[in-house]
Amino acid sequence: MMDILSPAGPQAAHIRELWHVTVLLCTLVFAGVLSVLAYVLWKRPRAGEADTPDLAARGAPEAGPRRRVSAAVAASVLGLLFLIVASVVTDRALAHLSLKDALHVEVTANQWWWEARYDDPQASRVFTTANELHIPVGRPVIFTLRSNDVIHSLWVPQLAGKKDLIPGRTATLHVRADQAGSYRGQCAEFCGFQHAFMAFTVVAKPPAEYEAWAEHQRQPAAESGDARAVRGRELFLGTSCVMCHAVQGTSASARRGPDLTHLASRETLAAGTLPNKPDALKQWIRNPQQFKPGVNMPATNLPDSDLDALVAWLGSLQ
Ligand code: CUA
Repeated sequence: MMDILSPAGPQAAHIRELWHVTVLLCTLVFAGVLSVLAYVLWKRPRAGEADTPDLAARGAPEAGPRRRVSAAVAASVLGLLFLIVASVVTDRALAHLSLKDALHVEVTANQWWWEARYDDPQASRVFTTANELHIPVGRPVIFTLRSNDVIHSLWVPQLAGKKDLIPGRTATLHVRADQAGSYRGQCAEFCGFQHAFMAFTVVAKPPAEYEAWAEHQRQPAAESGDARAVRGRELFLGTSCVMCHAVQGTSASARRGPDLTHLASRETLAAGTLPNKPDALKQWIRNPQQFKPGVNMPATNLPDSDLDALVAWLGSLQ
């Protein structure tokens, strides 16, 4: 669900207030204009066929209409000024989120997926994931936003407003989730063919659960010793997969595609496009273009049994 009217944190709540104020004012103006229109249509002078036109009044100054038009212009200017003040007040409120003990996450947009790097003063505790961000409830999060290719926009309506990710620039977005839950986000700036399939999820969980999740993400891949999975591992490390993907604990360390260290722990594949199920994963690896035409991942020309082995290994990366 993407709903700006059900905020899960203070930032989204400020934006909802601004929305309510704007809708209320615009509704009043709309109702006012329609009422005046209805009134003048009702009260207009009705000339009969026999009446001669009153040409004498043409060109003479009309004090009444001029006063009413001036009043309407003044009311419009006041209304617009009020909306400007309301958005400045909202902007200031958004900038005043306390950032004490904030979590730092670097989000990098790519065509068409998201990379999230969880910073830590200790380099060994930094970890990277993709398309699924977990954050602790009640603790502020500073997202540092970058783009690797074109302009994207990060938008999680239940947590914050939109923020653009512009190549060569860095932006920040401050967020706090006060309710646990899973919040869908979406790229909100047209960024190419698969812009609509550039979704992600922000999972807010109690701090202890978040710490457990983060600790798990820091570990190298937990691999299955199953024979088919072992064969899958060999295939992964011996084919073109390693040109783009990283799996911590193996020799795969490329950063062009999503980090797959804990792929099996995620809900979706391909930035929210497919459910993370073995069959979907197999179809995705076989031919990603059928789900996301234009995506950078090429089709795989492996026999069915090899694909099954690959899926068995990737499915074991909890
Ligand atoms: Cu990325 Cu639209």
